[in-house]
Parts: sequence; structure tokens; C-alpha cells
Amino acid sequence: MTSVLSLSSVLLALKLCSGEWCYQSQFSCNDTCKEPNHWHKIFPKCGGQSQSPINIVTRKVQHDSNLTGFIFEGHEDGVTITVENHGHSAHFALPSSVRLCGGGLPTTYKAVQFHLHWGEEQQPGSEHSVDGERYPMELHIVHIKEQYSSLQEAESDTTGIAALAFFFEVTSEPNKHFDRVIEALGRVRYQGNSSTILGFRLADIILPASKLSYYRYSGSLTTPGCDQIVVWTVFHQTLPISQKQLALVTRQLLYRTEKPMTGVFRPMQNLNRRIVFTSVKSDGVRALPGLITLFLCFFCAFGQQR
Ligand SMILES: *[C@@H]1O[C@H](CO)[C@@H](O)[C@H](O)[C@H]1NC(C)=O
Ligand SMILES: [Zn+2]
Repeated sequence: MTSVLSLSSVLLALKLCSGEWCYQSQFSCNDTCKEPNHWHKIFPKCGGQSQSPINIVTRKVQHDSNLTGFIFEGHEDGVTITVENHGHSAHFALPSSVRLCGGGLPTTYKAVQFHLHWGEEQQPGSEHSVDGERYPMELHIVHIKEQYSSLQEAESDTTGIAALAFFFEVTSEPNKHFDRVIEALGRVRYQGNSSTILGFRLADIILPASKLSYYRYSGSLTTPGCDQIVVWTVFHQTLPISQKQLALVTRQLLYRTEKPMTGVFRPMQNLNRRIVFTSVKSDGVRALPGLITLFLCFFCAFGQQR
């Protein structure tokens, strides 16, 4: 009996000491989990050259005319979604009827889940940043190529996953559409808890495709195993949330260790040899020659008609 007990306590200790990864905010003397700077020791891919998130330096982004608008499918349909606390984050599972194509992507992708990254109280919590500025919260909507049935299948495809990222900005008015998401998070306080939202429409929480422009780069999952298989889309447009709503999001959930789930983001990774592209010409002067050509053509056609 004693030996069985000691064996199980050894096994428990082994489990706590080794394989677990965590965010910086979780790390403490009693929890020897691997924090982000050490993830690569148990998950070698986390030490790769094309990791996410990154800081986007707008002065260095390059316009790419292949980055056309997205076509969203199923965003207007009311669907049943299940949210589950996974111990590091809470994922809202999306049905594969939610899809996207266009946006300079090689094929159609289907949605898998969405989740949020947030900070410690009153601190920024986005994963990506723009010109060094971090936002209070970031939404990730994860999609995989249509032909795959799981993330594992996408593992060896450098464009296997398409992730959409939206930053939140604090507004004085609450974002009413977001209340159901916040309430659902409140129902999954502990790891393993799950809850459902009926009649959820993605169109209620994000913008229509026609209103979006974006940055594009090749990167990785921002949690272990950090597979470098993600086509990242970081939108220029932000989503609104009130300070009160934001505080609710950050206070409701607990980590696997039952510590408050705050500071849920991976630190910035090096860009290395990568280039960040943008779907719009941000520079007004560079857009001018195109405009002049357009006018000339217009007058040309107009003149000929008469
Ligand atoms: C949530 O998880 C905790 C801890 O496992 C459990 O005690 C509780 O009953 C769960 N709550 C619900 C609503 O499932
Ligand atoms: Zn994420």
C-alpha cells in the first residue's frame, strides 16, 4: 500500500516537474512548469526561425497586390458553439460550415475554434504588436485547410493553418455583441469545464470581409508545439470592448493550477528573415500615380465615346 502511494506521488511529481508548459504569469517557485523562454527545451519547434507572435514595424511592411479581400462563409448563420477551459486558455469550437477563402490564401480553409489572449489586470495582453504598441486583448480565429480533419494532419504543411487576428481597443460604450462570449467564459472557470452558446453568429463579433484590410506573414502556433504552419492575418481594423467588459474577461477564468488566468500571451518572437506584407498601400504618395492613370483612362474612354 505504501509503495503504491509513494509510486503515485512520484508519478505526480514527475508530471508537475516535466512536460507542462505555462505562461510567464503562471510560473512560480511551486510550479516548475516551463515558461515561454524554456518551451523549446521540451518542444524544439518553439526555438525555430519563423515563430509567432511578432512586432509589426509598419515602416517596413511591403504592399502585396495578391492580398485581395476575404470571402467569409457561414459568418451570418446562427450556430451552436461549445467553449471549454483547456487550462491555459478557453477555446470556442466552431463548426466546419464556417469557412473562408480569398485573402491571398492558396485554398479554402474551415474554422476550428476561436480564443482570446489577454493581459494581467489593466495591462496589455495582445500577442502581436504594431510599432511596439500592444493592445489590451487579441482574438484568434483558427482555420485549417479544407482537406484536413485535424490540426495533426496539417502538421507538415507550411500553409496548413490560417489564423485571423483582431486587436481590441477600449471604448467607452460596451460591445453588446460580446456579452454572450464573456458570460460563457464565466461558466468555464475551471479546467475541463465546458458550456455552449446557441445561435452564435461570428458576424456579430467581427467585421464583414469588405471592411477589412490586413497584414500577412508566415509564422507559427503561439502555444507549444509552436508548429511553423500558420499563415497569419493581422487585421488593421480593431474591435471595441469597454474597460468593464475587459476586466470581466480577465477575472473569470482559472489556470490548471487554479491561479487566475491572466497574462495569457506569448512574448514577441524575432522576425528573422521574414517580411510582413500588407493588403493596402499605406503611402498616399505612392498611390497617386495609380490614381492619375485611372483618371487618364477614364477621360480616354469618355472622350472616345463622344
Ligand atoms: C467545473 O470544474 C470543477 C473542477 O473540476 C468542478 O468541480 C465543477 O463541478 C465544474 N463545473 C461545472 C459546471 O461543470
Ligand atoms: Zn492564439
